[in-house]
Amino acid sequence: MMSPASSAANPWTSYLDRFHEDHPGITEDVLSEACHVDDMNPYAWLLAVAPRNPGVVALDLACGSGPLQTAAPHLRWVGVDRSAGELSRAAKVLPRVLVRGDGQSQPFRDATFDLVACSMALMLFDPLDAVLAEIHRVLRDDGTLILLLPGSLPLSTRDRVRYVRLLAALREVRPAYPNSVHLGRLHARLRRAGLAVVSDERRCFRYPLRDEHHAQRFAESLYVPALSTERIEGAVRAARSWVGSTIGIPLRRVVCDKLMESARAPATR
Ligand SMILES: C[S@@+](CC[C@H](N)C(=O)[O-])C[C@H]1O[C@@H](n2cnc3c(N)ncnc32)[C@H](O)[C@@H]1O
Repeated sequence: MMSPASSAANPWTSYLDRFHEDHPGITEDVLSEACHVDDMNPYAWLLAVAPRNPGVVALDLACGSGPLQTAAPHLRWVGVDRSAGELSRAAKVLPRVLVRGDGQSQPFRDATFDLVACSMALMLFDPLDAVLAEIHRVLRDDGTLILLLPGSLPLSTRDRVRYVRLLAALREVRPAYPNSVHLGRLHARLRRAGLAVVSDERRCFRYPLRDEHHAQRFAESLYVPALSTERIEGAVRAARSWVGSTIGIPLRRVVCDKLMESARAPATR
């Protein structure tokens, strides 16, 4: 592990830094147990569109505890994340190249990576365009960007009702993130950064609320920037009342190719 992260710049940044120091690996704990009907978890689903060549040099941007690296150990990964807590959990699993740093000033030479993978983090970057410019810079000309993002579809009626109840307990209108790129105009944002979307798919994974511990882990994995113990406890109580069932986690997988300078043009979506 090398190099320190830049200092917290806004309330969201300090909230996220504290959240990940307090809950290292929580995203991996939840998503690695969430399954689709074909038994794939979200990380396997994302990696299914990664190049398969073992020589591929890959950046795991905002790697957290490193679930992508665990799932695809044949790739030559470098993981970067702001959180020392997440990186120390990642370092316990496999010997890895891990860098503590921020997505908006990546300490890598131009055109270093064949693949940039970013799982459950694009919606956290602020300013987003600075991070997209860095992704474009560190990708090789024929490089690929793969993204896993929160989605809102597909969801069953029962899951919708449950999310309404969770959000009511948290007193939020919708899941909150520092930027809203997961909600709309993602393709246009990416294209402006020189990244052309080649596929954009949605899937719902089911997380088993096996026992109270699983219920608590699920509720605690939600970001609640207006930090309040009472609200989080309300969400934990709601999740505990569903023990013995599963809850849907709708996700989105986006694949982009790096555009040559000459092909960069305004996008419409
Ligand atoms: C929801 S977790 C996802 C972790 C992992 N990729 C996964 O899918 O399990 C988001 C991660 O983004 C990191 N992060 C947030 N903002 C960042 C930034 N500006 N630069 C680098 N890492 C960041 C957090 O520290 C955290 O580890």
